[in-house]
Amino acid sequence: MKILVIGQGGREHALVWKLAQSPKVTEVYCAPGNAGTAVDAINVPIKATDIPALIKFAQEEKIDLTIPGPEAPLVAGIVDAFKAAGLTVFGPTKAAAELEGSKIFSKNLMRKAKVPTAEFAAFNSAQDALNYLDGYEAQIRKQAQLYKTGEHRSPRKATKSVVVKADGLAAGKGVSVCDSIDEAKDVVRRMMFNKEFGAAGERIVIEEKLEGQEASILALVDGKTIVPLESSQDHKAAYDRDQGPNTGGMGAYSPTPLITDEIMEEIIQEILIPTVHTMRKEDRPFTGILYAGIMLTKYGPKVLEYNVRLGDPETQPILMRLKSDLAELLYAAAKGELHQHPGLEWDPRPAVCVVMAAEGYPGPYENGKEIRGLEEAAQVEDAKVFHAGTKLVDGKAVTDGGRVLGVTALGADLSEAKLKAYQAVKPIRWEGAWCRKDISDKARMFVEREN
Ligand code: AMP
Ligand code: GLY
Repeated sequence: MKILVIGQGGREHALVWKLAQSPKVTEVYCAPGNAGTAVDAINVPIKATDIPALIKFAQEEKIDLTIPGPEAPLVAGIVDAFKAAGLTVFGPTKAAAELEGSKIFSKNLMRKAKVPTAEFAAFNSAQDALNYLDGYEAQIRKQAQLYKTGEHRSPRKATKSVVVKADGLAAGKGVSVCDSIDEAKDVVRRMMFNKEFGAAGERIVIEEKLEGQEASILALVDGKTIVPLESSQDHKAAYDRDQGPNTGGMGAYSPTPLITDEIMEEIIQEILIPTVHTMRKEDRPFTGILYAGIMLTKYGPKVLEYNVRLGDPETQPILMRLKSDLAELLYAAAKGELHQHPGLEWDPRPAVCVVMAAEGYPGPYENGKEIRGLEEAAQVEDAKVFHAGTKLVDGKAVTDGGRVLGVTALGADLSEAKLKAYQAVKPIRWEGAWCRKDISDKARMFVEREN
């Protein structure tokens, strides 16, 4: 089998690394890839969004299966275009990818499917959104008054904070968790008047802020059959103890103790099944990876957002633990034959992925710094350095992005996996390299609190 993976991040490196291990696979290509995929696959210099060039390549090379990694080509309709060209591709159609491409579509679908999620309202006019927030403010003031006079026991905390989201894709930056109505109004103005996110912010969602811990649940879906992958937890904040600005993800581990068997069953029954079922009823059958960002609230798991692709960096620890043949699995999913698959086999050992980032990330940063120490890192047992923002220049790996590497390791338990991941981080250096030092500690703290 010849496989083409589309994208150039850590997720795509983990994909090609795992796919190349399948005895059924003869060749793995990555377009455009990075310095890491250049070692584990063959890089093809075509951009992930250049759909006509990708189709031409897949036809000429007789690619048996194409796997687009990032959301942009999926939302743009790469799957429809590949299918129309008679090619086998694993991912959602443009209509199904709206689950990630439009927050309003996604929230309305959840409402229809009765999937637990934050209460919300959608707007296509800034004035309506601002009026709505004024109403919100009046409601809070009234409640505070009732609280003072003893008629209301506690001012409802949820109403103080709201979340404003741009409807369309905004490279992970379209969500603002606001602690005051004024802040929310400011975000509305920036999105809708100043067009900070362009067309993506022409429509917005304002929703209730949920409290709790976050977990990522990813599932393979072939239109009908759902095969959940093992759970994971991302670390979205830039700095230790979840401080600092939001990022694409500074590290992840799998599995997470937050997701017990009972909670997983609840997520399957209350969230994944009704979503996939409703997508079929809406005539947008979902094939691909359904990624539910879950908030574990005191009222049970609720969906924060849907993505229609593998998570980055969640994919790195998840695929490190997957023992089943990924090529067979994704091919079966693309062909609508997941029901015939015997089920997944997992390494019981947990895995931890530590993201090493460029100085300045998630703000502006420089590229082109030579990366040293990769050979030494490769000596650490059960560890693998997945490349993300890197490229080869004169045969040397240099930085080419904000999130540069995802250093991932398996261990007998989470502490050992963490230790090994940081052991592999240690010899790696470039000017300005940094990482969070506490990836996976959230799991330990959670377990300590529970006991
Ligand atoms: P999203 O792109 O919708 O996943 O949002 C990105 C991040 O914003 C999530 O991972 C959460 O940390 C946060 N977030 C989104 N929606 C909410 C919400 N309703 N309540 C609290 N936090 C949220
Ligand atoms: N790690 C978050 C995401 O892939 O969207």
